[in-house]
Amino acid sequence: MRQKFVCGNWKMNGTIEETRKLLFQLNVEWSKTCENIEVAVCPPFTSLLIAKHELEFAKIKFGAQNCHWQDKGAFTGEISAVMLAELDCTYVIVGHSERRTLFGETNETVAKKAAAVIQAGMLPIICVGETEKEREANQTEAVLRAQIEGSLATITNENCSKMVIAYEPVWAIGTGKNATPAQAQEAHAFIRSELKMRYGNAADSIQILYGGSLKPENADAIFAQPDVDGGLIGGASLDAGSFVRIIESAAETRA
Ligand code: PGA
Repeated sequence: MRQKFVCGNWKMNGTIEETRKLLFQLNVEWSKTCENIEVAVCPPFTSLLIAKHELEFAKIKFGAQNCHWQDKGAFTGEISAVMLAELDCTYVIVGHSERRTLFGETNETVAKKAAAVIQAGMLPIICVGETEKEREANQTEAVLRAQIEGSLATITNENCSKMVIAYEPVWAIGTGKNATPAQAQEAHAFIRSELKMRYGNAADSIQILYGGSLKPENADAIFAQPDVDGGLIGGASLDAGSFVRIIESAAETRA
């Protein structure tokens, strides 16, 4: 069965010193929590090295929030998947809606990045999700289908077990307005059915995380949904207490 997975997306937050402090607090809190769950944090690039040191003996894994698909070359300001693998990242988030809307990320670039991440030996967390306008226009499924088709174009049957999907409705990200448990389940079940069409029964093992204003207060009900395998947490992952409460919530509702 799928293991529950809770991942913090710190976005552009945390100096090296702040990262050290937050990871120290997390390590202390974590020792009190349940074991059977995967946990990771994705700090900014500049904090990955301190994360590697601080988490060396911890059960918490870490990852990056973006990468380039080429191994190296004349791409000023970019960081390759190979470089992130060298830092021992386990995960790389690709196609987050902030990257799609603010930085021109397309399904095509997301697909290239996902392939590069797998090639470098890490797991991509591939993000999909509709805007409020698209949901209101009843386009949620069409948008998700197009994003899955495009962003997973490079993912074959052979390597489909090496990725995680994050369903993040854009209207729920950072807004305080989370999807209801029923809305989350409906979208996750739809995504899983699309994955089944592409990858057959292997889709049953693919983790699909929910992201968008997840907090300790709403985590129980969302994690209780059968196709929700954990969460990608933004704001609430920046506070060790809140993050650990969300982890506990996922551990208790483990499938
Ligand atoms: P949020 O962000 O939890 O702050 O809504 C989630 C995300 O963007 O991954």
